[in-house]
Amino acid sequence: MPEVRRLLPESTCRSDPASPARFTERGWDRAMERALSMDPDEIIADVKASGIKGRGGAAFPTGVKWESVKKALGDMRYVVMNADESELGTFKDRALLQQDPLGALVGVLIAAHAVDAQKAYCYIRGEYRQAEGRLKDALGTLRQLGWVGPNGVDIEIRRGAGAYIAGEETALLNSIEGKRAEPRVKPPFPTNQGLWGRPTLIQNVETLANVAVLLAHDVNWFKEYGSSDTSGTKLIGLSGHVRRPGVYEVPFGYPLANLLNDSDLGGGVAGSQRLGAILIGGAAGTFLSSDEINDSVLDYASLARYGANIGSGALMVFDDTVDLRWVLRKLARFFSDESCGQCVPCRIGTRRVLELIEHGGLTTRQDDLRELSQAMRDASICGLGQTAPVALLSLLDRPDLIQG
Ligand SMILES: Cc1cc2nc3c(=O)[nH]c(=O)nc-3n(C[C@H](O)[C@H](O)[C@H](O)COP(=O)(O)O)c2cc1C
Ligand code: SF4
Repeated sequence: MPEVRRLLPESTCRSDPASPARFTERGWDRAMERALSMDPDEIIADVKASGIKGRGGAAFPTGVKWESVKKALGDMRYVVMNADESELGTFKDRALLQQDPLGALVGVLIAAHAVDAQKAYCYIRGEYRQAEGRLKDALGTLRQLGWVGPNGVDIEIRRGAGAYIAGEETALLNSIEGKRAEPRVKPPFPTNQGLWGRPTLIQNVETLANVAVLLAHDVNWFKEYGSSDTSGTKLIGLSGHVRRPGVYEVPFGYPLANLLNDSDLGGGVAGSQRLGAILIGGAAGTFLSSDEINDSVLDYASLARYGANIGSGALMVFDDTVDLRWVLRKLARFFSDESCGQCVPCRIGTRRVLELIEHGGLTTRQDDLRELSQAMRDASICGLGQTAPVALLSLLDRPDLIQG
């Protein structure tokens, strides 16, 4: 099956991605007109019926989140698009914003209409200069076409504060408010108390792009692709030892092995040309052996059988010459560097994990590593500390993948 293109424009699309011509070509005029003609509750019902789950990593049902924001009490509501994307191996939002910035912004406007928000922010990773430029141009186009303006929802673009933790939703809110990007203790959740204490809807770029395509069509069309577990398509950032690394859009339920090997997708394993393992789900992802890959499809239930998750859609491929202990060391350093230091289990835990791995603990101190991991998972304030040991544990559970 060839790559499906719903979120990403067809490769034959030649117009400027931020232009009024592209707006019409992609059907965003239809999506906006349809959304504004609908009652906000009807839109939320459609988003729920579509089964869209958040594409930023946690896969929380999008419609349920919208309903919570809509019902939350507040004199003002906000929508935030999370384009901070700073996790290792994750680059699909950058591709999406470069290729279709208008789609993501249309998703923001539809979300704002549905939850009755008056202001929206797009928080984009500071290094994404080209994507930021496209986003600004697209915002200009929406103003020119009258979809964003003095009488409607205002959208403001904010550049990220230069840290992976700034993508965690509550750290991001602090950053927008002008504070250090440190996570807040939850609850309260942003749906009730977000920006400046007001109900706030935070969604990943890809989630919002899904809403735009849904509204440009309908629920039945949207559900034509997908698995019994999740409808629609997913952007996958394929990197490492594959012949054709890049961002691909495939339906949920797609066999992982085909994703790596199909000639119009990964094109096969590069390097030694023999598959060693993949890391699925980003830096806090799970290593899978080639048997597990051959037995899995891209959906949450299928991957959960091996303790794995799609996360934000990062898929790193390693040939059989790569020493995964080296990969793990890199991941441990990433988490140790990126911990905001606010809570002890994560600040000290990520450091100790790195030290143990650097000193051969993967073979000699496995019990200590497991105990430390459990403490981090149980006692860290936010997802960074809670998920930092996931890749480590997955390798400890697959000793056959550890060489030497
Ligand atoms: C350390 C950390 C970094 C994160 N970075 C991002 C990010 O860059 N982009 C993103 O959409 N979500 C990120 N998330 C998840 C967000 O907290 C939040 O769940 C997400 O933006 C919600 O949108 P969604 O429901 O559309 O996925 C991160 C979470 C953690 C713990
Ligand atoms: S878990 Fe880590 S990143 Fe999250 S608040 Fe605690 S120290 Fe900061």
